[in-house]
Amino acid sequence: MIRDMFDALAPGYDQFNRLSSFGLDMRWRREAIRYIKSGSYILDIGTGTGDLAREFIKAGNRVVGIDFSERMVKKAREKYGQDPHVSFMVASSEAIPFEESTFDGVISAFVIRNLYQGGILQSSLRECYRVLKPGGQMVHVELTRPPKGFLLWSHRVYLRTMLPLFGRIVFGSRWPRKYLSSTIEKLPPPMTICHWMKWAGFEEVRHTPLSGGIASLFVGKKC
Ligand SMILES: C[S@@+](CC[C@H](N)C(=O)[O-])C[C@H]1O[C@@H](n2cnc3c(N)ncnc32)[C@H](O)[C@@H]1O
Repeated sequence: MIRDMFDALAPGYDQFNRLSSFGLDMRWRREAIRYIKSGSYILDIGTGTGDLAREFIKAGNRVVGIDFSERMVKKAREKYGQDPHVSFMVASSEAIPFEESTFDGVISAFVIRNLYQGGILQSSLRECYRVLKPGGQMVHVELTRPPKGFLLWSHRVYLRTMLPLFGRIVFGSRWPRKYLSSTIEKLPPPMTICHWMKWAGFEEVRHTPLSGGIASLFVGKKC
């Protein structure tokens, strides 16, 4: 199960992110900040160890982070739990334990692929829409594939050679072999993700490639 896998990956997760993205993961998270105005009350879906939440707190927001992995939530609390601007809870994106129109913003980083893999991306987008206030923005950061050419070729080589190497170095036998590369390769094209966001009710939906398309921002508004 995806949840058990993330429980097992919680120790070493941050180290793996920094190593495997050469530090770009933090830059991509920071890109999301500009879409939500400071002073907002924000829900971070699939918060993991809380690194995206932390960037939004630093930008002057209050954040609730949810994740269905207990071990990830435990790590997040150890890292940032003393900060009065953030709280973490165990919950699934499919059934967000908050009332309709609670948050000014809904955010996530590197979660959409997992929701797609679990067959719950569309139902989760509906949940994001439900808990967002009218006028609020949803911003997802995700790993994607460059559109074409040399970058696409070298990205594929990276996924099949260096990524598993980093995985083995950090996680040893806990490394879930092809899971990460296959979720990146199988994720439908950005146009399809945008289409599902519109289906869930979002307007002003847009996709912005980052670093040549190896990551992307997906933004939508609840009008
Ligand atoms: C790749 S990690 C990303 C963590 C974090 N957002 C970050 O920026 O590093 C994906 C996280 O999503 C969580 N997750 C996956 N599916 C979920 C779901 N249906 N509901 C809640 N959390 C989920 C996993 O437990 C994991 O912590």
